Amino acid sequence: MTTTLVPEGLTPFGGVEANAAWAEEVRRLAKQRDAVLLAHNYQLPEIQDIADHTGDSLALSRIAASSDASTIVFCGVHFMAETAKILAPEKTVLIPDARAGCSLADSITGDQLRAWKAEHPGAVVVSYVNTTAEVKAETDICCTSSNAVDVVAGIPADQEVLFLPDQFLGAHVKRVTGREKMHIWAGECHVHAGINGAELAERAAEEPSADLFIHPECGCATSALYLAGEGAVAPERVKILSTGDMVHEARDTKAKTVLVATEIGMIHQLRKAAPDIDFRAVNDRASCRYMKMITPAALLRCLRDGLDEVHVDVKTASKARASVQRMIEIGQPGGGE
Ligand code: 13P
Ligand code: SF4
Repeated sequence: MTTTLVPEGLTPFGGVEANAAWAEEVRRLAKQRDAVLLAHNYQLPEIQDIADHTGDSLALSRIAASSDASTIVFCGVHFMAETAKILAPEKTVLIPDARAGCSLADSITGDQLRAWKAEHPGAVVVSYVNTTAEVKAETDICCTSSNAVDVVAGIPADQEVLFLPDQFLGAHVKRVTGREKMHIWAGECHVHAGINGAELAERAAEEPSADLFIHPECGCATSALYLAGEGAVAPERVKILSTGDMVHEARDTKAKTVLVATEIGMIHQLRKAAPDIDFRAVNDRASCRYMKMITPAALLRCLRDGLDEVHVDVKTASKARASVQRMIEIGQPGGGE
């Protein structure tokens, strides 16, 4: 029998010894379960640090699909764990708190998508990975922020595209690909939509030599390009990036200060990648309450009790699999468009 090291809902981070005991217990239980621990870049720092792999949605989906472990513990939000289950149906997929949802994924239902498709027969449906399994089952190709442009660019120009559910990512893709026949669902993430252009312009004016790392889900992405167009910020300093690409760019940039427009959990991974750079959140209140439901105590409980297990019904999973499989192949060396 194992003992609980911390009370449910509290983090054990009260001292060096408690932290070390928690980390040791997590590692022991993960080994016992033959589990691989995956953490999204928005997770709490202690969760990012204990994970076997920390990354963006695309990288984590690829790892879930190729891992040898019999159990995947997904420290992220529910649609990410569902995507892992779709890709690896034979594995046990656990999430430390199944209530960790996503306001963006909630912005379109399967019924709404079916009705939209009926208005545009023959259109290619491109869904962001931040969608439920039911929506993925109605989708032709899924994408993430790091390959959305490649996915849409790979569709013949004369074909109509329905892009969902994020309007800001959709606007970014439409701008970059110059695509005309592209309809965009008016969904948004409450965290990213709250990072606004006025705030960004103010921070950029205070730090004229800083790079701007901007997630394409942000309400301020258009404003950043406008600032560049107006000459308020040097165009080469404006970088619209997925969370994983932000980490790569942090290693490459020569900037001393970087203003970061995305969920604040990202700052931890950036500081680890480039400790000499001063990373500053454009909006330090941009915290996703769903991502933060994955506490150290919840992770411990998950590994100890095998909860919460993620299930996707077999019919929905098999319908959704082709679109998700295409997503992980596109942009991969030797993997499609
Ligand atoms: P990335 O795909 O850039 O990790 O973004 C995911 C996201 O928005 C999760 O909320
Ligand atoms: Fe969803 Fe937004 Fe949270 Fe990402 S940050 S999980 S898009 S609610």
